Amino acid sequence: MLRPMNSEAERAAALRATLQHHAHQYYVLDAPQIPDAEYDRLFLELQALEQAHPELRTPDSPTQRIGGRVLDGLVPVRHALPMLSIRTETDTTAEGARAFDARVRRELALPEDSPPVEYNAELKFDGLAINLRYEGGVLVQATTRGDGETGEDVTQNVRTIGRIPLRLVGEAPPLIEIRGEAYMRRDDFERLNALQREKGGKTFINPRNTAAGAIRQLDPAGMVDKKLSFFAYGLGEIRGWAQPPTHSGTLDAIAAFGVPVNADRRVVQGADGLVAFHVEIAAKRDQLPFDIDGVVYKVNSIALQQRMGFVTREPRWAVAHKYPAQEQLTRLNAIDIQVGRTGKLTPVAKLEPVFVGGTTVSNATLHNLFELRRKGVRVGDTVIVRRAGDVIPEIVGRVGVDPQTALPSPPEGVTSPGGAGSTWRPREHYVPNFRMPRSCPVCGSAVQREKQGIDHRCTGGLFCAAQRKQALLHFAGRRAMDIEGLGDKLVDQLVDGGLIRTLPELYKLGVAKLSALERMADKSAANLVAALEQSKRTTLARFLYALGIRHVGEATAKDLAAHFGSLDRVMDANEAQLLEVNDVGPVVAKSIYTFFQQPHNREVVEQLRAAGIRWDEHEGVAAAGPKPLAGLTVVLTGTLPTLTRDEAKALLEAAGAKVAGSVSRKTTYVVAGEEAGSKLDKARELGVPVLDEAGLRGLVSGAA
Ligand code: IVH
Repeated sequence: MLRPMNSEAERAAALRATLQHHAHQYYVLDAPQIPDAEYDRLFLELQALEQAHPELRTPDSPTQRIGGRVLDGLVPVRHALPMLSIRTETDTTAEGARAFDARVRRELALPEDSPPVEYNAELKFDGLAINLRYEGGVLVQATTRGDGETGEDVTQNVRTIGRIPLRLVGEAPPLIEIRGEAYMRRDDFERLNALQREKGGKTFINPRNTAAGAIRQLDPAGMVDKKLSFFAYGLGEIRGWAQPPTHSGTLDAIAAFGVPVNADRRVVQGADGLVAFHVEIAAKRDQLPFDIDGVVYKVNSIALQQRMGFVTREPRWAVAHKYPAQEQLTRLNAIDIQVGRTGKLTPVAKLEPVFVGGTTVSNATLHNLFELRRKGVRVGDTVIVRRAGDVIPEIVGRVGVDPQTALPSPPEGVTSPGGAGSTWRPREHYVPNFRMPRSCPVCGSAVQREKQGIDHRCTGGLFCAAQRKQALLHFAGRRAMDIEGLGDKLVDQLVDGGLIRTLPELYKLGVAKLSALERMADKSAANLVAALEQSKRTTLARFLYALGIRHVGEATAKDLAAHFGSLDRVMDANEAQLLEVNDVGPVVAKSIYTFFQQPHNREVVEQLRAAGIRWDEHEGVAAAGPKPLAGLTVVLTGTLPTLTRDEAKALLEAAGAKVAGSVSRKTTYVVAGEEAGSKLDKARELGVPVLDEAGLRGLVSGAA
């Protein structure tokens, strides 16, 4: 039976509203209320409805974020109100803030004894300025700043930014332009570059360039792997809306419309308030998830702002107060090789020390030989160093070459396409003056390049001191054997001093030997010995992870422990048996098999066991003991009243059940809590029995 048209229109509207609500919860409030799969299910339903009835498609529909056309060029758009820039205070000390306050007071002709001026202090985001035009609450156009008078229409790319609402929340004015910065988070940037590196593709210079490049590209498909974010900081044209009388109130109103506004903003009084904000943000700059290049101070009262007006394109009531730059030029003095835990050789740039992003940097990673070549750097070059947040300092390119387009090694006779005056100049006849060593600089073992891989590795294994140090640190790590107090300084001392050559020797360290080390007090020696003793009681999964077998992370270690139940069975498994383990593929199986085939690795394991390392076979992993729920597959969904997801999982796994991520015909039970979504629907559809927390406890205790 055909349903009447209007109910489909109602369903589409309801789906749109629901999806908008959940997108807001997810992107803006960071508090998702439904699982991603449930969101996807609703999204697909709306998409199908719209496909069947294209007239139901509205410009604010969440389905309209994707699927734009490839453009011939960006269309210029004249701004209704010019997009201003801010005067920059380059004095990075507190004086910069005081100078601004003094200027404001002078321009407002405030007597010396009048109360301090109220400011709104906020972050200066390092991205690309965007104007969002909402008509009747619906996003109709997004433009770049351009020259301030005329920008470019980038609506279809901006629509893909999940954090930007396609429809404003609540009662929206007939017309409002919201201005802010599109940017890329550091973790999204690092992920993108890690992916590029894995593919052997070109890496991006910094989040700012990547965001700006993404927004201005003609093909919206290029937005797929580039996750951008947005923060609003002001307004453009408005009609039919009473703007709050302060800038801070305006930002609150923008946030209430569902547009992201950064929380690190304060209303402060006078110069002292500005200085305190500058200091506060400087201290946490590294921990912010995105780059900033300073803070912005704005006179908070809109009436005072209007009284002060502009000089050319810059308002007199605002200033940007900078921090030390996160990119600097310096000389590449040499390239060293660092050897990691798995033997990977990483070229590290030795730099003429330079002050970047608040610290002095003299080393920076070059990642691998191929990235180094792509960037076209040579020892002796002037290079661009970037250090942002906690990320390891990096060389992004050399002066004179656009790192985004640098040629790896132009063939002989190629002339520069850039010509005189161009900044882009591939190095003619680029001959790298660095080679990967054929033998490990630490232990002298042969270096191998993996077939088709980009990495070079030392084949020395634990014979190599560098690998041994890293192996010890990994072994002692919190998620491995959890040996408190065994950090890198101590490991250096232990290995360099010849106190430790193999992992088991760790457990032979006594207070006497340790106290003999430089800077080691008796008390810390005793603490370490106690920590070592304590670490002996562990789980099979932790122990397997601690061994540092290539490709065996925490999850695989757990799967191995659960599957085999005992160390001997893991050690004796052949590749075919290993392949039977959850999520273990041929590469991982081969790596585990090869590891335990090496007599010296087996010896290490035996010595560790002899040192007294032991695990309770019932704890965490159900091992040789009874596995009453063995063979059962359980899926957890929603929030349980008292147990966390991890606790529920641990209970089930201890009893031998397998906890899976998705519901299928193989699922024995689904345990559902509050706000269980599509997994619960699927269970009902397939007739899989559903338990609540009490049911789960019953299952586990009945089994015990
Ligand atoms: S206000 C009235 N606030 O900095 C002045 N701009 O030169 C209009 N920016 O391209 C800008 N963070 O994209 C303002 N909290 C902030 C900002 C900010 C970053 C950028 C903006 C503009 C440039 C100003």
